[in-house]
Amino acid sequence: MKIIYLDNGATSYPKPEEVYQFMDHFYRHYGVNPGRSGYDLCLEAGEMVENTRKMLTEFFNGSDPNRLCFTYNSTDALNLIIFGLLEAGDHAITTTIEHNSVLRPLYHLSLKGVEVDYVPFDKNGFVHPEDIKKKIKKNTKLVIVNHASNVIGTVQPIKEIGRICKEHGVVFAIDASQSAGKVPIDMKEMNIDVVAFTGHKSLLGPTGIGGLCVAEGVNIKITRAGGTGVRSAQRTHLEEYPYRLEYGTPNVLGIAGLHAGLKWVMEKGLENIHHHEMKLTRMLVDGLKQIDGVTLYCQDDLTNHISVIAFNVDGMEAQDVGIMLDVDYNIACRTGLHCAPLVHEQLGTDKIKGAVRFGIGPFNTEEHIRTAIQAVREIVEFKKKKG
Ligand code: ALA
Repeated sequence: MKIIYLDNGATSYPKPEEVYQFMDHFYRHYGVNPGRSGYDLCLEAGEMVENTRKMLTEFFNGSDPNRLCFTYNSTDALNLIIFGLLEAGDHAITTTIEHNSVLRPLYHLSLKGVEVDYVPFDKNGFVHPEDIKKKIKKNTKLVIVNHASNVIGTVQPIKEIGRICKEHGVVFAIDASQSAGKVPIDMKEMNIDVVAFTGHKSLLGPTGIGGLCVAEGVNIKITRAGGTGVRSAQRTHLEEYPYRLEYGTPNVLGIAGLHAGLKWVMEKGLENIHHHEMKLTRMLVDGLKQIDGVTLYCQDDLTNHISVIAFNVDGMEAQDVGIMLDVDYNIACRTGLHCAPLVHEQLGTDKIKGAVRFGIGPFNTEEHIRTAIQAVREIVEFKKKKG
C-alpha cells in the first residue's frame, strides 16, 4: 500500500522533482562555501544565494534583498526577532493561536521582565484586530501573530492588524510558517514589519532553511555573533543586513532547495496551488461532517483558511486514531497538541490529549481524500462496535 501523506502541516512531502534535481546538481557542481573567496565556484554559489534573497524579497514584497536574512527555520527566525526586539520593561502582544516557536521565547522573556498579553481567537478560530488594539499601551514594542494556524488552518486578518500597529508605531511581525507559499504575503500592502518563514513547508524546499524579511527602519538587536566572510578583523559582529542576523556558514544546499521550491511555486501560481488544496480540503471537511462520531474544530466556513484541519473521533484518543490511520490505512497525519498548547486549551482538546490533524499539499489527490474519509468512517464504526 502506497503512503497517503496528509502531514503537510509538518513538512511538505514529496517535493517537486525540480527541487531534488536542482539540489543534486547544485551540490555536485557548486557546493562550496559562498561569499568566502574569489574563485569561480565560490562566486557561483554566492550568486545563487543572492538570487534567492532577491526572489524571496520580491515574493514578500519587501524593500531590500539585503534585509532578507537566512535562518535555519521559522523558530530560529522568530527567536532572532523576539530576543532581538524585546527588553525588560517592554510589552508584547500575541495570540492564543501561536505555535511554541513564539510562545516559548516570549515565556522565557516574561521571566525576565517582559510583559506579554495573549489575545484569544473567536469560536471560528479568528483573532479580532480590535482586541489587539485594546491591548496596546505605551510600552508595547511588538505585536506578533501566527498568520495561519498549524492546527485549525484559519488565516488571520493581518492587513488590519498591521494597520493598527502602524498607527500606534508598534513593530508588527508575522509567523508565516504555514502561510508562506499558500496565501499571498505583501509586506507593504499588509503593513508587516517582519516576516518569519520556513523553507520546508509550502515553499517546498528542504528542512533546515528559513529566514526573515525585515522592513526598513526595523532594527533587530544582534543577539548572536560569528563569521560573516567579510571584514574579519572587526571584533564585533557586523551591523549591516544581512550579516547582522546571519552567523557562520549558511545552509547553502538548503538555500538551493528553497530556490527551486520557490521557483516551482511561482511558476504554478500561488492561487492555483491554493485552489487545488482548498478544493480537496472542502471535500475532506464535507466528507468528515457526514460521519456521526467525528468532531471537527473551527471548520464551519473555509473562507480565509489554508488546507489544514483538525478533528477527533468521539471517545477515542487522537493518538490511537493516528496509529490506526498509519497501521491499517498507511495514512500519515499528526496527532497531539501540535506544539500549539494554547489552541488546544481554548478548544478544550488539551483534556483529551489534542486532536488529529490532516494537512493537504499540492501533490494530494481526490483519491487520497476519498480514502482518508473512508478510513475515518471505518475507525468510527470500529469504535462504535467496540464501545
Ligand atoms: N510546526 C510543525 C507542525 O505543526 C512541525 O507540525
